[in-house]
Amino acid sequence: MNTTPAIARALLVSLCCLALSPLHATTASRTSPDGAISFVVSDEGGMPSYTVTYRGQEVIRKSALGLEFKDVDGFVRDLQIAAQSNTSSDSTWEQPWGEQRLVRDQHNELLVTFAGAHNPRKLLRLRVRLFDDGLGFRYEVPEQKGLSKQRDGRLEIIDEKTEFALPTPDKTTAWWIGSYSWKSYEQLYRTTPLAALDRADTPFTCRLPSGVHVSIHEAALVDYASMTLDQRRDGVLKADLIPWHDGIRVKTRLGFRTPWRTVQISPDAAGLINSRLILNLNEPNKLGDVSWVHPGKYVGIWWGMHVGTYTWGSGPKHGATTANAKRHIDFAAEHGFGSVLVEGWNVGWDGDWFGNGDVFSFTKSMPDFDLAEVARYGASKGVHLIGHHETSGSVTNYRNQMGAALDLYKRHGVTQVKTGYVADGGTVRHTDEKGILRQEWHDGQFMVNEYLYSVTEAAARHISVDTHEPVKDTGLRRTYPNWLTREGARGQEYNAWGSPPNPPEHTVLLAFTRLLAGPMDYTPGLFNLAPNGLAAENRVQGTLAKELALYVVLYSPVHMAADLIENYVEPDGKTTKPGFQFIVDVPTDWESSRAVAGEVGDYVAIARQERNGPDWYLGAITDEFARELVLPLDFLAPGRSYEAQIYRDGPLTHWRTRPNDLVCEKRVVTAQDRLEFRLADSGGVAIRFRAMK
Ligand code: NOJ
Repeated sequence: MNTTPAIARALLVSLCCLALSPLHATTASRTSPDGAISFVVSDEGGMPSYTVTYRGQEVIRKSALGLEFKDVDGFVRDLQIAAQSNTSSDSTWEQPWGEQRLVRDQHNELLVTFAGAHNPRKLLRLRVRLFDDGLGFRYEVPEQKGLSKQRDGRLEIIDEKTEFALPTPDKTTAWWIGSYSWKSYEQLYRTTPLAALDRADTPFTCRLPSGVHVSIHEAALVDYASMTLDQRRDGVLKADLIPWHDGIRVKTRLGFRTPWRTVQISPDAAGLINSRLILNLNEPNKLGDVSWVHPGKYVGIWWGMHVGTYTWGSGPKHGATTANAKRHIDFAAEHGFGSVLVEGWNVGWDGDWFGNGDVFSFTKSMPDFDLAEVARYGASKGVHLIGHHETSGSVTNYRNQMGAALDLYKRHGVTQVKTGYVADGGTVRHTDEKGILRQEWHDGQFMVNEYLYSVTEAAARHISVDTHEPVKDTGLRRTYPNWLTREGARGQEYNAWGSPPNPPEHTVLLAFTRLLAGPMDYTPGLFNLAPNGLAAENRVQGTLAKELALYVVLYSPVHMAADLIENYVEPDGKTTKPGFQFIVDVPTDWESSRAVAGEVGDYVAIARQERNGPDWYLGAITDEFARELVLPLDFLAPGRSYEAQIYRDGPLTHWRTRPNDLVCEKRVVTAQDRLEFRLADSGGVAIRFRAMK
């Protein structure tokens, strides 16, 4: 990753030691580079707090700050602002892969030091960064005497006091999923007045009555517990850190810092998607040369298990056979897919695999699967095998084999692994150092560390990771670019199970909520949208054009063509079906990306320019309502003509009755044109703009 020289770096340090007076509140403040966002910190009453305004309007009312520790007095009361300093920075950095190659990081920073009112040596720092698209702040607890009772500085956090007090909870609309769910993040998003929320995961999105959109999340979640939000009083969302099995939130040592608490602010919904704030608040690449990390598209032995065509376990329907894997490799090679995922290749799937965590082997193949031969065959055709490690939430069993399992993959040229942690919320199992079996949440500190450990172990072998049942994304792909993508929301698989399937608004909501965190392995691209008939519950509640548009709308550097490969081909066994060409063409690595229109949960349109090429792509999708969309093409390069290859809903398309009606047409357009479309009920449009000579 290259960090380009700072465009301008103005260092303005105004360190002013302030008189500590318990009678007068001291404040420290800073604005965003464009002046629109203002952040004010105060020590009024000895309790640290902050407020945020946007274009003069209060976005976060007075909200508490602080940390509480076990057995020692933490940072909650009797605190005073002792010092403050300002810096500014404007630089541009390059992503090795991503939705945007060059990312501008322009921010103003405020560093506030709180000291104990009666003990000036007791120190807490609050570092605040203000960007034009929002802000982040984090706590830093420097090494100091008297704060830990342990020689080695160990500390246990039992509560984080941070609040986000949003105004007008009755008139603010919130889009959210609940925290502490047995389904973890795999829930349907709810649309409610803010006042109706109890506990929510982040990213949490809301719209204030003024139309301003706000997203609360966190960046750089490392060695800490995930922050969830708990509405304690009207509109006051309090940080609720996911605890360990013993109730402690975070086990740390003096000299630690928390993840960034982030507030993205935009005058409209699309602006949230265009924000790069989460990435900007993460550390630069720690892996050095990552030319071995490959974005791309894949097919696989996967959907067949979910719809019952195959089984993971052994038997007549076992999907992961050598012959079937080779058949998929042939298809991938013929149609330009870089890799093939094979699930169910290893020993341990027989019986109820949900409960098989302790019996999975990650090095032994099923008798009808020859890993070496499949990998060799793939390599001969330029196709990589994507490895698969399902742990069923038994982390110790995986840990014990992880090194050998990744070594095995490395030996066979496997450069990407999909990991899985299927387990109900709060029941990820591990054996602690005393040999006692413990159960944890997927997003507590234990698992935060476990996921990152798997990513760094994989990196050491030049293997990339796609985590399913993950902890939420907080932008760590910047620091560890081999952490390609993850699940972390209801994916396509729910449409196979129908329990219930993803409703028409689901993917539209994902774009403004889950996807604000980072890439998602949703696995789009089904052509057989209703394998059990149009009336069945387990089917896709959307049109074929919408499936195609998801490749652009839902960013991921690796995207699957999820359907059974035979469903992409006409009965002649050779000709591919209309629309398949879009999946073949669409890139997964972008020069730039821009949400051009949208309203949360209603519709969204996103345009992206391919990396290393002049072509643009556009995806637009709608919820259960058909709608007319007028799209100005001003994102295209001026003065250039493009052939727009359009895949859209037809006049009779409807997700319930005629989901596969797809119109494929071509037009010549320029940046001055506007395209008008009718998206069907739960429909979409996918376009490749091929630059003409
Ligand atoms: C759940 C994952 O999301 C899915 O993709 C996978 O097929 C199963 N677990 C089995 O690992």
